[in-house]
Amino acid sequence: MPPESGTVFEKNSTSYGTYNDMEEPLREGTPRSDRTRFRKHGLGKANALDSQFVLVISLRSILVALFSLLSAGAISYYLFQYPTFYKDAKDTEDAGEGLDPFAHDVGRLPFMGYNTWNAYHCDINETLIHETAELMIKLGLKDVGYNYLNLDDCYSERNRSASGDIIANATSFPSGMKNLTDFIHGLGLKAGIYSDSGWFTCALYPGSYQNEDRDARLFNVEWGFDLLKYDNCAVPYDEIIKEGVVGKFTRMSNAIYNLSLSTGRPPMLYSLCQWGREEPWVWARDLGQMEELDGEAGLRGVAAQTWRTTGDIDDKWQSVVGILNQNSFIAWASDFYGHNDMDILEVGNGGLTYEESKTHFTAWAFMKSPLLIGTHLASASKKTLSILKNTEIIAINQDPVVGKSVTPFRWGVNHDWTYNNSHPAQYWSGRTENGTVFMLINTLNKPADMSFNLTESPWIRAGRQYSVRDLWTHTSNGTAVRSFTAKAVPAHGVVALLLQDAGDEPEGTQPPCQREEWCTDRNGTRLDDIGFEPWNDGFQRKSEQQLRGT
Ligand code: GAL
Repeated sequence: MPPESGTVFEKNSTSYGTYNDMEEPLREGTPRSDRTRFRKHGLGKANALDSQFVLVISLRSILVALFSLLSAGAISYYLFQYPTFYKDAKDTEDAGEGLDPFAHDVGRLPFMGYNTWNAYHCDINETLIHETAELMIKLGLKDVGYNYLNLDDCYSERNRSASGDIIANATSFPSGMKNLTDFIHGLGLKAGIYSDSGWFTCALYPGSYQNEDRDARLFNVEWGFDLLKYDNCAVPYDEIIKEGVVGKFTRMSNAIYNLSLSTGRPPMLYSLCQWGREEPWVWARDLGQMEELDGEAGLRGVAAQTWRTTGDIDDKWQSVVGILNQNSFIAWASDFYGHNDMDILEVGNGGLTYEESKTHFTAWAFMKSPLLIGTHLASASKKTLSILKNTEIIAINQDPVVGKSVTPFRWGVNHDWTYNNSHPAQYWSGRTENGTVFMLINTLNKPADMSFNLTESPWIRAGRQYSVRDLWTHTSNGTAVRSFTAKAVPAHGVVALLLQDAGDEPEGTQPPCQREEWCTDRNGTRLDDIGFEPWNDGFQRKSEQQLRGT
């Protein structure tokens, strides 16, 4: 008998209630200008003289001698001058990399690493940074992609030096920042630093306003940092700044760009911390091009490759689910070289259950947020590490082919597009290099079955069946035809599935359309209207509560 709509073929009838048990040279490439120079000074001229050959032996001898001299000159040029010339040209080329925000890999994918703020706030010092760096290696975190170690606020003295530089705090960072970044780099990691677009940082240490060029050089060239998190506190008065938020963050964008131009190094990764107040997802990606658009020639900047979208995260489910809700409306903004930053992870800090922690990590990863560990690594539990090191989840975040975030296809508890910080969108999907990924979130305080029709996702083909891989149990979960049901998803839990096309669905699968809305036979007879209600001038899908009659 042909299977019916809604049938799920499950190899393992997975109950999602069992996660708690889980532990765990002239050579190719010579610059054109160089070849021209070689011809002008050497062989080209000698050949021209050959063509005007005169039968006077002495003159011929002179010419031969001249030819030899010129040839020798050319050869010695090649041997002694060329390498330097070539190097200059190469340097110019490298410097060129800093010019084009898309000619390097900085910030192409969401960056992964460690940030000191959530675990330590202002209580940081060089011993802690050394330990953290070593633990990132020892615990295998670097191996799965966490390669930035970022200092947040409170690493400096309260005042700049007499010459105007920020000074590393003499008590907490006595060996200085260059030694620190040398240590970090020595372990194969990159290093990040923090500053602020205003007069002060949020903890009232020196900000970079009016010192952007100086500070960018200090951070990147003198201290050796590769990333700059740039905050939003202590905004100068209007009559001084005479800029909006875009202008305020453009100043450091220009500084990083100009520094990269002068040093030939790739730009520092520019990580904006604007808390989503003035919609950075609309403008942060374009920061480097804005003056050109405004007709201001000569000024260019780097794009911000990542921008915070919300206020600070708390180690509580309510905070995680609220951030998820707010980001559900702007998930479209993330793509290569520009990402919604949902804030530092709270995984491992004690305020979230295991299920909530997995939901938090999955959502951040699938929504292409930077993944920044924010817990005390020395005491991280096996469970915490098993979450942070789930390579099947990380692979979606770091997909080299698809840069976009998952997006919701159904809200679930609430009507679609409802803004609700407790019950945000529950049903999400997105493309990956290996298939379509789904994320189901149970926002209820009790276990729930969660079902979806496959073609509710735009990435699924009608009339096909799909193999299902569970990215948390790391098992195959049968083949789905038309729909999939996850049973007993724990309270605040997540289901993460990767669906791969497994060929045509069985012949004769009924009904004729997986999605009935406006599906017709050749005569125009409609199949739909179940589950919809009039709304404005059209229809909207009924909520699950309405369908259940509750
Ligand atoms: C906040 C920022 C936090 C942390 C803190 C440091 O503005 O959102 O992530 O950097 O400043 O004072």
